[in-house]
Amino acid sequence: MFETLPAPKLDGIIALMQAFADDPRAEKVDLGVGVYRDEYGRTPVMRAVKAAEARILEAQDSKSYLSLAGDRAFLEAMETLLLGGSVPGARVAAVGTPGGTAAVRQICELIKRARPEATIWVSAQTWPNHLPLIAAAGMQSRPYRYLDRESGALDREGFFADLEQMAAGDVVLLHGCCHNPTGVDLSLQDWAETAALIERRGMVPFVDMAYQGFGVSLDADAGGLRHLAARLPEVLVAASCSKNFGLYRERVGLAMAVVEPGLRDTLAGTLAGLNRQSFAFPPDHGGRVVSTILGDTALRHGWQGELDAMRIRVAENRRALAEAIRAETGSDRFGFIAAQNGMFSLLPLAPAEVETLRDKHAIYMLGDGRVNMAGLNAETIDVTARAIAEVLQAR
Ligand code: LMR
Repeated sequence: MFETLPAPKLDGIIALMQAFADDPRAEKVDLGVGVYRDEYGRTPVMRAVKAAEARILEAQDSKSYLSLAGDRAFLEAMETLLLGGSVPGARVAAVGTPGGTAAVRQICELIKRARPEATIWVSAQTWPNHLPLIAAAGMQSRPYRYLDRESGALDREGFFADLEQMAAGDVVLLHGCCHNPTGVDLSLQDWAETAALIERRGMVPFVDMAYQGFGVSLDADAGGLRHLAARLPEVLVAASCSKNFGLYRERVGLAMAVVEPGLRDTLAGTLAGLNRQSFAFPPDHGGRVVSTILGDTALRHGWQGELDAMRIRVAENRRALAEAIRAETGSDRFGFIAAQNGMFSLLPLAPAEVETLRDKHAIYMLGDGRVNMAGLNAETIDVTARAIAEVLQAR
């Protein structure tokens, strides 16, 4: 049966995680997988999560099945966190999923069921798993221009020109905030123009929100999504609680469709049916942690403080790395790092240079130059800047 099975191709992020784990060098620096790390390189369980888990342990009296959509309290709390009251609840259908990854997959399955001929447009630089997820659902994708590599900012002209090329009924996948891998986000003005263009040309936006709270603030990071939802008849959303609640391995996410009220029940039923055919019921524990935190004033306050501290640390790392590279190279070529949002930036390095950083300096980043800024600390910022300067000098 398996003789003709092609050799599996490991996802670049997963392969890098493995290579890092296997590297015996003590000084190794992990700037690969998108996981928050503190200054000691740890990813601790958030205090608010620990407190919520203690309450759940105490109070939970059954682990019997819930509905295919998952826990209603989790979905309602997330609806508020994401949409902030920008649309009435009667327009929102949502189901829990095992992480944001499964949310992306389920939304692709939903699109396929409704409009299999649609193209899903994806930013030219995107999370490496987006394209495989779209393909696995049997949908086709095409890239739109996004990053201006020279300035490290949005290629505004290219972006809007490409949006103009999309057909009515096509789907545009947009990163809600903290674009992965570029760190380049749309301004509110860009979101407003995007919404107007989408409305005029009749596409459907699909917002992937995996880093809410890591950009500017919980509300500001959802500003673009809320604008789209308030203005357009249909918006699709995949959201993750992996990063902002630090619940990575618990797999907490949701797939959401904002539609006209008359279509809401159909969408809710279809999404529930898609869950049934892939994994039946979504995992419960992480979602319950999220709704416990969001539903309690003190826990929520504590969680926001922890999230703010993570965001500030990452932003400080950005500034410090940009400054250290400037000091080492005498050039402001990497200055854009300080202006970007969230965990990731795409460094203008060739694949061979990324390899040298890994082999010679034990600094691990993705092959396209994506670095996780949270992986740095006071010591490794200088080490990384020096190594980058050395690699650049060899050009
Ligand atoms: C990343 O981009 O590194 C994270 O979102 C982890 C993942 O699942 O790829």
